[in-house]
Amino acid sequence: MAEIQLKNVCKRWGSFIGVDNFDLTIADREFLVLLGPSGCGKTTTMRMIAGLEDATDGEIVIGDRVVNDLDPKDRDIAMVFQSYGLYPNMNVYENIRFPLKVRKVDPATHNERVMRAAAMVELEEFLHRKPAELSGGQRQRVALARAIVREPNVFLMDEPLSNLDAKLRVSTRAQIKNLQHELKVTTIYVTHDQIEAMTLADRVVVMKRGVIQQVGTPTEIYDRPANTFVAGFIGSPAMNLMDGTLAGGVFTASNVRIEGLSGPDGPVTLGFRAEDASVSASADGAEISAPVYTMELLGDATMITVRAGGAMVSVKAHKDYRIEIDETVGLSVPAHICHLFHKDTGARLEA
Ligand SMILES: Nc1ncnc2c1ncn2[C@@H]1O[C@H](COP(=O)(O)OP(=O)(O)O)[C@@H](O)[C@H]1O
Ligand SMILES: [Mg+2]
Repeated sequence: MAEIQLKNVCKRWGSFIGVDNFDLTIADREFLVLLGPSGCGKTTTMRMIAGLEDATDGEIVIGDRVVNDLDPKDRDIAMVFQSYGLYPNMNVYENIRFPLKVRKVDPATHNERVMRAAAMVELEEFLHRKPAELSGGQRQRVALARAIVREPNVFLMDEPLSNLDAKLRVSTRAQIKNLQHELKVTTIYVTHDQIEAMTLADRVVVMKRGVIQQVGTPTEIYDRPANTFVAGFIGSPAMNLMDGTLAGGVFTASNVRIEGLSGPDGPVTLGFRAEDASVSASADGAEISAPVYTMELLGDATMITVRAGGAMVSVKAHKDYRIEIDETVGLSVPAHICHLFHKDTGARLEA
């Protein structure tokens, strides 16, 4: 049983706040992803859980033990980093075996455990090679195997895929997801890549400047972003956002008029997703009517971008749709696909 509780955990250096009141319970066997831009406090949060950094305030509980004063080696956690941290002079087998030696695990069990971990990440053929003789993807799999072999209570993974090329990232991502499913180990995974977060997580924590912005399942975060920061971070492309005025349920901004909304009269930020909107048959009477700024062929869709409400707004059209730049296009943006946010705080306005 390895539930992890972070109770109002803070990290300060002088007057600088790296992590501010992080308060969350991570369920046993949960796959939790910390997501946010560079510098938002993801690694610091992770390092406090691992014991590599002291919390300035708050309590960290793993299982039923408060671990604030426990050494990293006594926390039963295995970490995987962006830089693989392999020993260059040891072959793959010895690299994977190393944590068992350090922890003085009964040597009679080593071979079986190493072979099982190697099999899980498909490294059996490479056991005799040195790290220098491996590709980036293979090295990262050695790092994963070295974490697995310990059979820890908790996995911490800090941007483990960021050194891999795009294709390898996708396949290794799938492997990590499957591995976590097999091993059923509580996992905290750090990334700045929202697609990684959405594809891997049971729950996502979106962070900004040390502060949690939203905690939810990928679907919750995508469907109901708590504020404009989350809305603008999740999705590819991220949600379209524009400022305008709401009066009597009608939102207006330059080139935009959307009826049938509910919300308080006054300035608001309106958002909608490119994939929820569509190109309308005619520019007349469409919610957005504007000249095309650019058209991009994505393969599975054609992305149309216009200037509206003082922002660039993108809509995904059918993959066969074609239009010229500067031609006027009508975009269908019905009220039911729209999200409203407070213009100043960015907080979601509940309908
Ligand atoms: N030892 C330190 N002393 C002072 N500031 C630090 C230290 N370590 C990290 N920071 C700052 O804390 C913030 C969060 O860092 P970090 O957790 O590494 O962000 P992330 O992993 O989300 O990119 C950053 O602004 C970083 O510069
Ligand atoms: Mg980091």
